[in-house]
Amino acid sequence: MDKVLARGSGSAAARSRPRTAVVAMVAGAAMVAATIAVATSASAGTTLGASAAEQGRYFGTAVAVNKLSDSTYVGILNREFNMVTAENEMKWDATEPSRNQFNFSAGDRLVAHAQANGMRVRGHALLWHQQQPGWTGSLSGSALREAMINHVTQVATHYRGKIHSWDVVNEAFDDGNSGARRNSNLQQTGNDWIEAAFRAARAADPGAKLCYNDYNTDNWSWAKTQGVYNMVRDFKARGVPIDCVGFQSHFNSGSPYPSNYRTTLQNFAALGVDVQITELDIEGSGSSQATSYGNVTRDCLAVARCNGITVWGIRDTDSWRASGTPLLFDGSGNKKQAYTAVLNALNEGGTPPPTTAPPTSTPPTSTPPTSTPPTSEPPTTPPPTGACTATFTTNQWPGGFVTNVRITAGSSGLNGWTVSLTVPSGSAITNTWSAQASGTTGAVTFRNVDYNRQVGAGGTTEFGFQGTGTAPSGTPACAAG
Ligand code: XIL
Repeated sequence: MDKVLARGSGSAAARSRPRTAVVAMVAGAAMVAATIAVATSASAGTTLGASAAEQGRYFGTAVAVNKLSDSTYVGILNREFNMVTAENEMKWDATEPSRNQFNFSAGDRLVAHAQANGMRVRGHALLWHQQQPGWTGSLSGSALREAMINHVTQVATHYRGKIHSWDVVNEAFDDGNSGARRNSNLQQTGNDWIEAAFRAARAADPGAKLCYNDYNTDNWSWAKTQGVYNMVRDFKARGVPIDCVGFQSHFNSGSPYPSNYRTTLQNFAALGVDVQITELDIEGSGSSQATSYGNVTRDCLAVARCNGITVWGIRDTDSWRASGTPLLFDGSGNKKQAYTAVLNALNEGGTPPPTTAPPTSTPPTSTPPTSTPPTSEPPTTPPPTGACTATFTTNQWPGGFVTNVRITAGSSGLNGWTVSLTVPSGSAITNTWSAQASGTTGAVTFRNVDYNRQVGAGGTTEFGFQGTGTAPSGTPACAAG
């Protein structure tokens, strides 16, 4: 039985890496979906979050909730970041310490801090072989499967509508050369445990992007990378609801930043998923550390579907690998050379996120998914000249869809809004969040709810819905009032 262990061993050696690089070049990897390769002209932002936003991306950090009383820490957090991940507070041991008894207090504190400061939240992590509560140790087979799915459902339901992206499954692949799944108590409930988790998460929070997250999947030639790639390709082909892949990207001398990192991000994105850098830290110092940080940033910006970067802590002293000084701020909270490299790379600009559904790439060996991949948020643009505009992104799978709509207010701002679109006949909305829908099919108007009635000039708000059948297409109409 998998022992419940916090990964205290932060050493490079703890992360065994494939000794022999198995170059399992998958034929389809070359089939990179056409992306909009337009350089963005950026005005120079002065913080990570603002500069990333100018590129239509976010810049996030892991947060330890007990440090929210540290004024230096919070000062940097609020100034620099617009996305947060709970470093430990949303893990299984924290949220379900006794079976079916949930404790969301620490996670809720982080969500409240994020909402009060205009940050979004990455949920981390619903299922993982580590940091499980002790009680899972006595379960296996269908009892453990039931407990797992209940955990996913309860936690994703609690945070429904508040999470940008969930790490639904974390670290399910083996290190080494097999490219196979990790043998864990979760894996022993059956090979379909990962897709079962994704389906449960989708049902519980249809508005969150659902990610698979792992480490040592950065180097395209490593077997582990290929194993995850094949799983994601299979999921897309079979309509398993996966929206994104998280690359932890804990780099050190044993697992350095690989020169083919951008290729890896591009090849995953070409499968029709977003990619996110989820736990970035790079051990080292000075210019070599700064160079790697700059490279990672440019690689993300070069890939339209790279949504953003999250670093795994704020100051070096906050890091789980503090001795490697792997972060952007020193122990006193001063900006390091690595910080400047990241900020400069963000301000250089890159490929904007897709504003319309990108072309669906056809997976090489299996039936192509009929789905239109979700697109990520459009880049920050000047306020529209009318009252507002609305754009949407859709994740379509056979028989159903989830659509997220983003409203941008014009130069007068909004005090109430409506968005109208047409749900094709035979299709129906089954659930709406952050708006009220006038009906379920045909011409449907969505009206603001209380909390998102007011939108400042040029500001944005989002709502979404899920349904059966085929998602709406075309341009939604947006109006004030
Ligand atoms: C780490 C935290 O940073 C530590 O505080 C904790 O003791 C162990 O977990 N991969 C992950 C993260 O997905 O959750 C881990 O976070 C780091 C490795």
